[in-house]
Amino acid sequence: MSNIFNSSAYNEARKRAEDLLKKMTLAEKTGQLSQFGTSIYSDDEQTFSDHFAEGKVGSYLTIKGASHTNSIQRDLLKATRLPIPAFFADDVIHGYRTTFPTPLAQSCSWNPEVTRKTCEISAKEAYRAGIKWTFSPMVDIARDPRWGRIMEGYGEDTYLCSRFSEAAVKGYQGDGEKMEKDHIYACMKHYIAYGACIGGRDYNTSDLSLQTLHDVYLPPFKAGIDAGAATVMASFQDVNGVPSTGNKYLLTDVLRGQLGFNGFVVSDAGGVVELIPHGFAEDLKDAVRLAFDAGCDMIMAGDPYNDFLPKLIEEGKITTEQLDRAVLSVLTLKFLCGLMDEPLVDEEGEDCFFCDEHMTAARTAAEECAVLLENNGILPLTPENYKGKRVALVGSLAGYDGKVHLLGGWSCLSDHNHTVSIEEGLRKALSDCEIVYSRGCGITAADNDNITIAEAVKASAECDVIIAVVGEEAGMSGEANSRSDLTLTGNQHELIESLIATGKPVVLLVASGRPLVLTPYKDKVAAMMLIWQMGSAVGDAVANILAGTVSPSGHLTTSMPVCTGQVPIYYNHTNTGRPALGRWPFESKYRDCQIAPLYPFGYGMSYTTFSFENITVSDNKMAKDGKLTITLTVRNTGNFGGASVVQLYVRDLVGSCVRPVKELKGFEKVFLKSGECKSVTLTLSASDMAFHNFNMEKVIEAGKCKLWISQSSDDEAFEFDFEII
Ligand code: NOJ
Repeated sequence: MSNIFNSSAYNEARKRAEDLLKKMTLAEKTGQLSQFGTSIYSDDEQTFSDHFAEGKVGSYLTIKGASHTNSIQRDLLKATRLPIPAFFADDVIHGYRTTFPTPLAQSCSWNPEVTRKTCEISAKEAYRAGIKWTFSPMVDIARDPRWGRIMEGYGEDTYLCSRFSEAAVKGYQGDGEKMEKDHIYACMKHYIAYGACIGGRDYNTSDLSLQTLHDVYLPPFKAGIDAGAATVMASFQDVNGVPSTGNKYLLTDVLRGQLGFNGFVVSDAGGVVELIPHGFAEDLKDAVRLAFDAGCDMIMAGDPYNDFLPKLIEEGKITTEQLDRAVLSVLTLKFLCGLMDEPLVDEEGEDCFFCDEHMTAARTAAEECAVLLENNGILPLTPENYKGKRVALVGSLAGYDGKVHLLGGWSCLSDHNHTVSIEEGLRKALSDCEIVYSRGCGITAADNDNITIAEAVKASAECDVIIAVVGEEAGMSGEANSRSDLTLTGNQHELIESLIATGKPVVLLVASGRPLVLTPYKDKVAAMMLIWQMGSAVGDAVANILAGTVSPSGHLTTSMPVCTGQVPIYYNHTNTGRPALGRWPFESKYRDCQIAPLYPFGYGMSYTTFSFENITVSDNKMAKDGKLTITLTVRNTGNFGGASVVQLYVRDLVGSCVRPVKELKGFEKVFLKSGECKSVTLTLSASDMAFHNFNMEKVIEAGKCKLWISQSSDDEAFEFDFEII
């Protein structure tokens, strides 16, 4: 795949970087590897101007706005001996100012183009504010929804996450070989297996087999690297006993050696210092030695590299070659994006924030992310059917609170005044109905909940249909927001039960950063839809779906648990010798809960129906360097326009290492008008069947396999046997 690293522009930038490197002092070199800044959550920006004269500042995080980045850049360039501009970096996670659905929500679109587009717009807005580098995408596989950071990634599946990983990198950096204006560098994080933290507790140890590491957690990084990802962030936690930040095998042998990464690695905030409490480094100097020697090129945040690298070089513990490689990498990327030639940004360029084009993109992205879980036919609430009817809208997230919380985690750069609330969206889309709004209750318990719930019930009982919005506040997922209980918080359960008790049909909208336990409501509500945290245009997107202007087309990218005790739960597990077939007591199961999830990976309803017709597979044998071509016709057999997601799953029946019961290996989203059909072709390459065996050799083994063309991971309507020869 062509990318910024295999281009003549890169070679030219590299040459200029080499020339510059020759002129640099040791302090200036370590300065290029030092990033400064404060927390994204803080407005207390510090400029570290006392560091400028010695060239000790290479990069900043969290400086906001074009005029501010420009003024710091000007001061820095004036004060330093060699005028090397600083890289301004930030956590542009799902939008800079205009906010898009969370990455987890975006993955439910099963349309990587959605993510390419949202990242492209995010890059443009960030660029206009002086940012040249984002700490995104997060391509950590997450199999445990207790982990709050599940909202920042693309779900539980390696193949799907890989496709979104490359889309995000291309969106941020552009598709060309040069970094054009309005594009910023991507940073894939958190390398590696951060999502495998035990118990879903953030920052906790990951202890996993090397096979799982290589087959499940690394491929999304490889996909982003092939797409040209410029940087990678080391994760906080230890992997099998060695913290990622100081893990030479992972940062050098695997990342650079096996995956072919050519950019630079930045630590996470405080990741180097934390090697001490991990019990891996004796003191700060030792931590710097271990991290830098492992391949962690830049430190976020602060002076430890400035303070200790020169001494470590003097002592021969770090070599000049190691230092120069890291500095060259940073400088080359500064040249490549034009920063060295144009260090300042046009201060008039910020006028695109929340512009119509970006808000429309936020709405259309959001419209593809909602996952309809249940519908007894009540949805959509078409104007023809609901004209003149009374619609109760209940829940704090449907009103003003939702303007803030439905932006989701990592939206501190946004502005909730631009969020379209669900109430606002619905009043527009269902203008022929009477919308009766009541708060019901908040997300966390409050003293007056019994009063406000009673008010909501009274108002709702006089309406024809109830739309209830429940879920999480923005701050309940994301970093350091692990939960031990995935049921609804506060008095939301009581609210829903009381609304159901009115006997009026309840449409339950669940807005959260993570999959929650929805078991009590599944069979009692008229419809249930996950709307995640959809960003600035949430109200319009939700209203368009409810009113039937748009048919929901999202599918789950995480298994939805029946109860918290079921997690970690993921569809691509192995079989065990005693699978739960219900034949005898001694099976791998729970006494008190089924092992199947409430809703499986890949599941999602539409207002229409689809049929997969004339499915053909090119052969029932596949050579180890061969491929199979699968063709089919997808037909919209219902009365609404909509989108179907064709999913290709495989199972290698017998292996020298046991293989998952199902693995996604291809998908395509197909948009069809009512009655329309389209042909779809998917390809399965033998290399898609490769895995690491017990000796850590990557192998494709001969033998019997199955494939399924499905509408969900539990759909086995079309099954095909084939053999690898
Ligand atoms: C810590 C987080 O783990 C990381 O994802 C983020 O990019 C940095 N802080 C900077 O805010």
